[in-house]
Amino acid sequence: MKVLIVYKSKTNFTKSYAEIIAGAAGAALMDAKDVTVERMSEYQIVVFGGGLYAGMINGLKQAKEMFEASEAKELVVFATGGTPNEAETVIEEMWKTNLSEEELSNVAHYYMQSGICYEKMKLPEKLLMKMMAAVMDKKKEKDELENGFAQAIKNSYDISSEVYAEPLIQYLKNRMEQKCEESI
Ligand SMILES: Cc1cc2nc3c(=O)[nH]c(=O)nc-3n(C[C@H](O)[C@H](O)[C@H](O)COP(=O)(O)O)c2cc1C
Repeated sequence: MKVLIVYKSKTNFTKSYAEIIAGAAGAALMDAKDVTVERMSEYQIVVFGGGLYAGMINGLKQAKEMFEASEAKELVVFATGGTPNEAETVIEEMWKTNLSEEELSNVAHYYMQSGICYEKMKLPEKLLMKMMAAVMDKKKEKDELENGFAQAIKNSYDISSEVYAEPLIQYLKNRMEQKCEESI
């Protein structure tokens, strides 16, 4: 029973979570840019993680295509973002945008709050963030969460914690146990 954690990360938030998950679950770890269909096929479970950029999970489309072409049996997805975990409705909507109705029920998916790192951003992302901040600033009737987000995205912040990786780690440990029992 082999598990591969694949990550796509621009400012290292997703990479850090991927390293924690791989270490705790005893899984292999690979940067998305090094993954091929052949390499993916050596594993039964593939976990893909990417950061949220304007609501979309970075690299998910390519990861799904590669998974479909591979012999791996199960895809699990995790996303990291500046949105706090408590913003459940926002996170639910994000999943509906990124996964089809069928995937929502068949693909285990996990969200982990991370933060924003201006220092590690390249120019296009910096500009996009500035635009997002300006749009949020102009929005008239902001609820408490949106107000907090509008303030937060003006500067770097880090609300990540290995605690938020725990549900996915637990899921993987359970899946590995199931497979062992099945093969006895
Ligand atoms: C241009 C840009 C757009 C972003 N859009 C979102 C977003 O829509 N929702 C969110 O929760 N976080 C958003 N973020 C925060 C990132 O999702 C967060 O920093 C993520 O953990 C980055 O992952 P990475 O460093 O592994 O690429 C955005 C960050 C940038 C730079």
